[in-house]
Amino acid sequence: MVSAESALKAITLDLKKYLMKPATRKREVRLSELKEYFSNPEAADKILSSGRDPTIYEYYEFAVEEAAGHLSLGLTTIYPGKVGKEYFMTRGHFHLKPAAEFYYGIRGRGVLLIQSEDGRTEYVELKPGVIGYVPPGWGHRTINTGRGRFIFFFAYPSDAGHDYGIVKEKGFAKMIVDERGKPKVIDNPRYASST
Ligand code: F6R
Ligand code: ZN
Repeated sequence: MVSAESALKAITLDLKKYLMKPATRKREVRLSELKEYFSNPEAADKILSSGRDPTIYEYYEFAVEEAAGHLSLGLTTIYPGKVGKEYFMTRGHFHLKPAAEFYYGIRGRGVLLIQSEDGRTEYVELKPGVIGYVPPGWGHRTINTGRGRFIFFFAYPSDAGHDYGIVKEKGFAKMIVDERGKPKVIDNPRYASST
């Protein structure tokens, strides 16, 4: 039998409630924490000043330990919505070590945006059944471009580490906006002005 002390782990992805058990970490990120990552912080302020502070995304993660050789597994839900024209999205990060990661689309529609350290970007639509592979050294962010929740599974080396500083400082070179009801990838004006 598999018990909490067993070397063998059995992790359940609940595909009705969209939760993962067991999890060693659960995190919920609200608009107030993320507002300066959007290209239009005034639009974020408008939502916040109406008394709402919506959850933008949440994730579960399971790691035996954050040590070389292990894998960290997780489940992320990005809620539908926009700040101005920009869709709800994750903060985004680079790994501290050159570690790859994969994302597996489970529900909804979204985009996986990756960016090299010198600012080249690529993206793929992640829908149920599609795996997006993030190569080592590329920063990554996910964006919910649909009308419902966007949910995906991810896995990466447990000792990868996370660098959120570069994204905070420079952002991503591209952003995904709603244009007449459809997602459009455009240059991020704030990225251009910071380089
Ligand atoms: C882990 C990873 C994802 C994200 C998650 C939340 O390396 O890429 O699990 O951690 O989707 O996004 P961030 O970490 O950018 O807040
Ligand atoms: Zn990552």
